[in-house]
Amino acid sequence: VPSNIAFVKYWGATDLDAVVPANSSVSMTLSVCRTHTTAEHGIDRAEDEVFVVAPGGHLEPAAESFRAGATRHLDRIREHTGIDGRFRVATLNTFPSDAGLASSASGFAALAFAATQAAGVEETPLELSRLARLSGSGSATRSLWGGYVEWPYAESATGDAAQIAEPDHWALCDVIAIVEEGPKPASSRDGHRRAPTSPHFATRQALLPRRLREVHRAIDDRSLERLGPVLEEEAIELHMIAMTSQVPIFYWKPATLDILAAVRALRSGGVAAWITMDAGANVHVICEPEHEEAVAGALAAESGVHRVIRDRVGAGPTLETEHLL
Ligand code: PMV
Repeated sequence: VPSNIAFVKYWGATDLDAVVPANSSVSMTLSVCRTHTTAEHGIDRAEDEVFVVAPGGHLEPAAESFRAGATRHLDRIREHTGIDGRFRVATLNTFPSDAGLASSASGFAALAFAATQAAGVEETPLELSRLARLSGSGSATRSLWGGYVEWPYAESATGDAAQIAEPDHWALCDVIAIVEEGPKPASSRDGHRRAPTSPHFATRQALLPRRLREVHRAIDDRSLERLGPVLEEEAIELHMIAMTSQVPIFYWKPATLDILAAVRALRSGGVAAWITMDAGANVHVICEPEHEEAVAGALAAESGVHRVIRDRVGAGPTLETEHLL
């Protein structure tokens, strides 16, 4: 299951346990950044077994906190589907985990997909999206479709995510500058919890209806000129709210600011590219294929950038039958 990058961010919840967002969000499903998860059902064990593919390529038992998170998610999946029995799960991320690249979105969605398939239960994308959301990672609910996806705010209830445009509607690229591979200083759950304590939170809520309309129009018209400014407003505002929450959260690194300046310089030189960010120091640069090369080159030239991932809009989850174990 691929990760996704939000154009309009989910930041703040009216009910964090029930995963009711404070606002609608819209994202683009990615293609290169994905989680491969395979599952074996009905193993003869008292507990689920969870393995991760480590950076060197070998499988190892997951760290205890990772195993506990996966087991909690499997418990919710068992409860909601009636599936009984334990799983042996193996998982692999094609990109850095916990670094603000939505590895929880692809990870929890992939676990729901793999576990239900292994248990012989065919779920629709909508049912998988609901199962993914039970994980507590709201963005996971958007990763079950390719293309462009909206997760609506529905009057204090949890709305269902749905695809708003197919991947081939608009071939956008997401060139990601990695400035930090390690875990971020605070989880997005902490960020959602603290967001309403920022004095800027209410202002953002008031601005969002217009922004959502702009994003819909931009996607309909394939207009990066319309989308770009909204992307940047959303990213900067999310971080401004994080930095002014009680207790403040600073995800940015000095290199983050250098990249923001580099992208402004690219734009002055006629390259249509706009940044967005999730809860982390890494920067996503959205552009059309004709500018991907120029953007990737400019990002790689920044001294604080460890590596550049060239991603693009993708087709959504795929089913594989070979066990990672
Ligand atoms: O899905 P969560 O609870 O990890 O929160 C996601 C938060 C952002 O990635 C910053 C925004 C979003 O909508 O994906």
